[in-house]
Amino acid sequence: MLKLENIQMQVDNDSGEKTEILKGIDCQFEKGKVYAVTGPNGGGKTSIAKVIMGIYRQSQGHIYLDGEEISDLSISERAKKGIGYAFQQPPRFKGLSIQNVLTIAAPQADLVRVRSSLRDVGLCPEDYLDRDLGAGLSGGEIKRIEMAQLLLRNPVISIFDEPEAGVDLWTIQKLLRLILSTYKNNPRKTAIIITHNEKIIPVCDEIIVVEGGMIQAQGTPEQVWNLIKDDIECKVRNQCQGEINYAIN
Ligand SMILES: Nc1ncnc2c1ncn2[C@@H]1O[C@H](COP(=O)(O)OP(=O)(O)O)[C@@H](O)[C@H]1O
Ligand SMILES: [Mg+2]
Repeated sequence: MLKLENIQMQVDNDSGEKTEILKGIDCQFEKGKVYAVTGPNGGGKTSIAKVIMGIYRQSQGHIYLDGEEISDLSISERAKKGIGYAFQQPPRFKGLSIQNVLTIAAPQADLVRVRSSLRDVGLCPEDYLDRDLGAGLSGGEIKRIEMAQLLLRNPVISIFDEPEAGVDLWTIQKLLRLILSTYKNNPRKTAIIITHNEKIIPVCDEIIVVEGGMIQAQGTPEQVWNLIKDDIECKVRNQCQGEINYAIN
């Protein structure tokens, strides 16, 4: 189980002062479950993922993996312990072929698995394996390759940051089926999907709503989804500005 205890995180703003991004996140992610983390843009979802991965450091609070504190471990130490993160905006590595990148991500994977990981994200291996990861790929293609890397690595805690971005509905549904069959009821694994997608959220085991650097609501889809769906769509489209009260009565 992955547990976050009172996680706070700050960044330096332009005038050299600290801005608080995460304001005391308490939650736990159990094995065998698929979690949706949702909420309006700028709420702090990616920051939570980056704190879990060790890319951002918390200013206060603790992170535990299976009871062991990992708050001070480096990114690579956390990766070795089985935490993986597919970036919302993946970096481009010029000069590496897609096959190189997938093989580096999962050295144990044979070519059959490498090829099937590309198919899982809707890319034809014949067209993509030899292409350079830097040049000429669209944002959506880079995003799919990032997800293929995470699927191949198959870590015990897998965090997908907005997998729907730049990916067609057909592929999203295929990817979702794959995530559900790999993680749901798997006694060793947990998936965390940061998403606004109305197909993904209702089929997850638990929904965590993050806004203003805090968890505003948490529960099963039945408890949370009806409460948030209109507000989320509205906020995502930036059509309304006001505070949202997600309190479950
Ligand atoms: N490295 C950073 N430097 C400055 N501000 C940041 C940084 N990372 C995140 N933020 C700010 O923190 C807030 C939450 O961002 P983020 O976690 O990316 O939100 P979400 O993923 O929910 O859209 C935003 O206002 C964002 O601008
Ligand atoms: Mg984000």
